[in-house]
Amino acid sequence: MTHEIAVIPGDGIGQEVTPAAVEVLEALEIEFEFREGEAGDAVKEETGEALPQETYDLAASADATLFGAAGETAADVILPLREAVDSFVNVRPAKAYPGVDAVRPETDLVFLRENTEGVYSGHEDRLTDDVATLTRVVTESASRQLAEFACEYVADNDYDGFTTVHKANVMRATDGLFRDTVAEVADENDIETDEVLMDAFATHVCLEPDQFDVVVCPNLAGDVLSDLAAGLVGGLGLLPSANVGPDRALFEPVHGTAPDIAGKSVANPAATILSAAMLVEYLGYDEEGAAIREAVETTLEEGPRTSDLGGDASTGGVTEAIVDRL
Ligand code: NAI
Ligand code: MG
Repeated sequence: MTHEIAVIPGDGIGQEVTPAAVEVLEALEIEFEFREGEAGDAVKEETGEALPQETYDLAASADATLFGAAGETAADVILPLREAVDSFVNVRPAKAYPGVDAVRPETDLVFLRENTEGVYSGHEDRLTDDVATLTRVVTESASRQLAEFACEYVADNDYDGFTTVHKANVMRATDGLFRDTVAEVADENDIETDEVLMDAFATHVCLEPDQFDVVVCPNLAGDVLSDLAAGLVGGLGLLPSANVGPDRALFEPVHGTAPDIAGKSVANPAATILSAAMLVEYLGYDEEGAAIREAVETTLEEGPRTSDLGGDASTGGVTEAIVDRL
């Protein structure tokens, strides 16, 4: 079976780290057909459009998409691309690796963030010179879909359960619905859960990150708290993510185009290669995903390393070492 993969490198270091991840995928014994699409600042300059229709269609029809990063046009690219795969959950692991300086080396958790609604549902108005408003939308259906994904994720990955993060003590109607729906679905699936208020979570995760494994949260809370966790594990260069929909998914590093180092072949490819590991796992190749992860982890620990981790290796040098270890 051949898997069709849309590859959208985008701008800046996206052009360097995305081919690196494709190189790793090509080293596996899985049949892929890669189809490249353009998106971002450069194509906008050329054509007037940051996300050409054909790139959108590529993501909307491929089995999975690997995306690098876009520059100033990031929002015009990534939001429609997430929509193209109908993504309802953003999966963001934050793990500290041996050999990498981390504020909290014991951190190893994964955020499952609601990806369509909450305060990001787009209902914002400027009513008068003085007043602007925002409507926060929470639906039972989206909360249920997220919770069902979380239960499956916990079972598939041998976790004991998950933690629901919310602020239902204040946002009683919206987060109340979120919390109650998630709890109900967990109960139906015999999955253990506990709950932490989102502000308290921010403190707890800094002080004792090993208390948490899988964290289920509404959109904004997931956005902010997963960036906070990124800080605990040593920054952006290592964090992968997945935007998962019912039939397809899009995988991307958490970082952006890194204009300060773009074009120098010194970008760390680890986040994008770890995103590729999530991609193959999504397609059902758990062993291959684990093998990529292990090759990356060994390379982070033993080198070669890029300069963000104190080394002097190039993007290609690190990629070659990872492919060799595969
Ligand atoms: P950034 O993530 O591009 O860079 C922040 C810092 O981290 C820089 O010093 C950079 O050199 C370093 N860094 C990031 N990834 C790295 C890697 N793989 N290896 C080594 N060092 C790395 O964030 P910034 O500077 O806020 O944004 C730059 C551009 O990227 C902006 O135009 C922004 O709009 C865009 N962006 C796009 C995203 C996306 O497409 N999903 C996400 C975040 C930012
Ligand atoms: Mg964010």
